[in-house]
Amino acid sequence: MSKQPASKKAMTVPATVITDRKTLRANARKSIEDGAITPTYSADRKMVIKLLNDALATEWVCVLRYYRHYYMAKGMLADAVKAEFLEHAQQEQAHAGMLAERIVQLGGEPDFNPDTLTARSHAEYKEGGNLRDMVRENLIAERIAIDSYREMINFVGDKDTTTKRILEHILAQEEDHADEFADMLDGWIGE
Ligand SMILES: [Fe+2]
Ligand SMILES: [Fe+2]
Repeated sequence: MSKQPASKKAMTVPATVITDRKTLRANARKSIEDGAITPTYSADRKMVIKLLNDALATEWVCVLRYYRHYYMAKGMLADAVKAEFLEHAQQEQAHAGMLAERIVQLGGEPDFNPDTLTARSHAEYKEGGNLRDMVRENLIAERIAIDSYREMINFVGDKDTTTKRILEHILAQEEDHADEFADMLDGWIGE
């Protein structure tokens, strides 16, 4: 059997470009009002900003839901579960902050409009009945967040590694959140 020549695919991949110092300096002087966004930014910036705004809405809906559950939690296990709700509320708020900061860095505007928050959010604002219901609803919301962050990471890929890193950091925390609730439900006794 004759050996195949080097794959055609490999030959079409462009060599990594290292720009010379003079061009690098000249490029940096163009459109300086774009701040951190330079001509080599290759992601679809508008789309990235939109996705980040959808995630921002999701985070705020989660903050509100967690606070509602924190204040409404009652029952035998309430103290332990309340502590988790509060911690998550604060972490979701921190996620919202990271997303808003990145949106501004990309030249966009973070959308905090409360009138459209639930319509733009991936996760729902579910009040839940008893404590177990609340935990279940939060687990579902976390699972929605996990899927949407994973999709966003795949969309952004290596075209915007800063955004990707932020999304990966948030995703890891959402996975932790979901894991905690799954463990709680697993050993749940009573209603
Ligand atoms: Fe979050
Ligand atoms: Fe979360």
